[in-house]
Amino acid sequence: MASKLVKHLLDKGYSVNTTARNPGFYLKCDAKKVAHLLKLVEDHEHGDLKIFQVDLTNEGSFDDAIAGCSIVFHVATPVHFASKNPETDMIKPAIQGTLDILQTCVNAKTLKRVVLTSSAAAVSIKDLSKETGGLVMDESCWTDIEYLTSAKPPTWGYPVSKALAEKEAWKYAEEKKIDLITVIPSLMLGPSLTHTVPSSISLGMSLLTGKHELINATKGMQMLSGSISITHVEDVVDAHIFLAEKESASGRYICCNVNTSVLELANFLSHRYPEYAVTTEFGDFPAAAKLSLSSEKFINEGFNFNYGIEEIFDQSVEYFKSVGLLQI
Ligand SMILES: NC(=O)c1ccc[n+]([C@@H]2O[C@H](COP(=O)([O-])OP(=O)(O)OC[C@H]3O[C@@H](n4cnc5c(N)ncnc54)[C@H](OP(=O)(O)O)[C@@H]3O)[C@@H](O)[C@H]2O)c1
Repeated sequence: MASKLVKHLLDKGYSVNTTARNPGFYLKCDAKKVAHLLKLVEDHEHGDLKIFQVDLTNEGSFDDAIAGCSIVFHVATPVHFASKNPETDMIKPAIQGTLDILQTCVNAKTLKRVVLTSSAAAVSIKDLSKETGGLVMDESCWTDIEYLTSAKPPTWGYPVSKALAEKEAWKYAEEKKIDLITVIPSLMLGPSLTHTVPSSISLGMSLLTGKHELINATKGMQMLSGSISITHVEDVVDAHIFLAEKESASGRYICCNVNTSVLELANFLSHRYPEYAVTTEFGDFPAAAKLSLSSEKFINEGFNFNYGIEEIFDQSVEYFKSVGLLQI
């Protein structure tokens, strides 16, 4: 998502400082990982791009990247879904990295606004066992951290890291009078600029690729978060820029365009792409979502989503064909 955000900002004429953990200033650089960013440096026709080496776990790491900036988008987050130690691998670095960036923003004295990428995982997760359906989640909702840290359902560390990092950011921003906005995207699909396929797209495409492990993970997502909620990555990128530029914006914004369930999605995909053998048999797995994420506040602010479910999957299917993950 960050790579696309950089590209859109350059296209709009902004000068951008971006960051990477290993951008290739040293011999052991991960050249493939940053090749798409280096290409943006070569190709840019409008704004300038500089790449800075950072790590969220190194205090003060973002000082040079943030110096002189008027807007900061804090997108990066540690993602280790299979971690045996989420506290060390995700929760602490997400919180400390976020607070460190906010402190750097205060020190820089040039910042007008900070836009933090949160997640639907910070909003909708709670014990849903007694819920029968029809819940509408808005910006007043927070994921239940006590439930996650006691029940420890699979992948619990990620939603805890996102919810706590966002909560701590709000506390710090209030104390230091930072103009903070948080964007709350749902699962992002759509073509990627990176040389590897992002795991969220592989998850969202699992019914089409038929990969059992990923289909099970998608079912797990519905059980944990109450729905399969999807947004095109381009809409999420536009959302970040819209909220950075819109003076009247304030607070949290859910950015989600499609709320569905595994079964509903399977039915849609099997009709739209009959060439792939999409299963629509899920036994006694719950047919309907228990909740939906509402983007009403965002739409009332003037934002328009450009990509519905058809465009999201048409483009993701073309992308998967182009990288050899779906047959023509
Ligand atoms: N993907 C989704 O469906 C989805 C949905 C809702 C919200 N979000 C949120 O949206 C944001 C972007 O998501 P994404 O899927 O584009 O993420 P992603 O592909 O997993 O990228 C995360 C980025 O964070 C960087 N990062 C991780 N640990 C770091 C550290 N210690 N120091 C510096 N950088 C570090 C990674 O760098 P490396 O490349 O070096 O690993 C990577 O570039 C995240 O905040 C995520 O929580 C994503």
